[in-house]
Amino acid sequence: MTETPPPSLQLDDRTALLVLTGAGVSAESGLPTYRGTGGLWRSLPFERLASPEGFAGDPALVWRFYSERRETALRAEPNAGHRALVEAERRLGDRFLLVTQNVDGLHRRAGSERLIEIHGRLLGTRCSRCDREEVPDTTAYREGHVPRCDRCRGMLRPAVVWFGEQLDPEHLDAVDRFLERWRAARLLFLAAGTSGAVWPAAGLVDVARRRGAETWLVNAEPADNAGRFEHVCEGRSGTLLPLLLA
Ligand code: OAD
Repeated sequence: MTETPPPSLQLDDRTALLVLTGAGVSAESGLPTYRGTGGLWRSLPFERLASPEGFAGDPALVWRFYSERRETALRAEPNAGHRALVEAERRLGDRFLLVTQNVDGLHRRAGSERLIEIHGRLLGTRCSRCDREEVPDTTAYREGHVPRCDRCRGMLRPAVVWFGEQLDPEHLDAVDRFLERWRAARLLFLAAGTSGAVWPAAGLVDVARRRGAETWLVNAEPADNAGRFEHVCEGRSGTLLPLLLA
């Protein structure tokens, strides 16, 4: 069902809201998406740029790609969609949880705190070999430079989750705990700006539905998993999220 313009979700003191965001939410901040119109993976070989095998084969190429993305993300500013989610969290407190697939850091910069970054962080660096802790890092590594771990001399890599890698199980547990904790509440699940093509994020809607959540999708183009949502609003998140969360 498409509803334009959408009604407000009527967040009240009985409501618990689980939100999933994807690259579309940052599109209005000037950041490219992956699969939508003009998406990165439409013209770039994701298997060479976003997989452990690609990194092992040409780490300098991978660092060039992520360095450019770091620079673009640092220049970008959060938009009205990010800010509407901060406001919703301010009103709902612990009855709010934001799960993002975005690695650009804009939700945190906007002020979101109850935030799980399931695909990691562009502005973080970790070792590809040892378990040295991730460190914040805004450096653009250019000219074929591949930074090395000061502990094991292994190659450092961006702290993003690549194709073929597992999500942190603690993150999925945290989502389960949230749904369990608020199962007696009026539970809402809202996905925004995500093509529904990447799992397990694309299946969160089913997890939430099984727990009795009412499900909403906001996306500019038809998402692969749109049929799993009860309510689908087609349009831009910078416009629709402030309306839905008003
Ligand atoms: P995608 O690029 O797959 O999907 C973005 C969706 O946002 C598309 O369906 C667009 O139509 C929609 N969109 C574009 N502009 C929008 C706007 N202003 N408002 C609302 N929707 C808009 O991005 P994700 O679903 O986030 O993984 O992709 C999932 C993962 O695949 C990413 O996290 C990334 C990628 O490979 C990693 O980096 C690990």
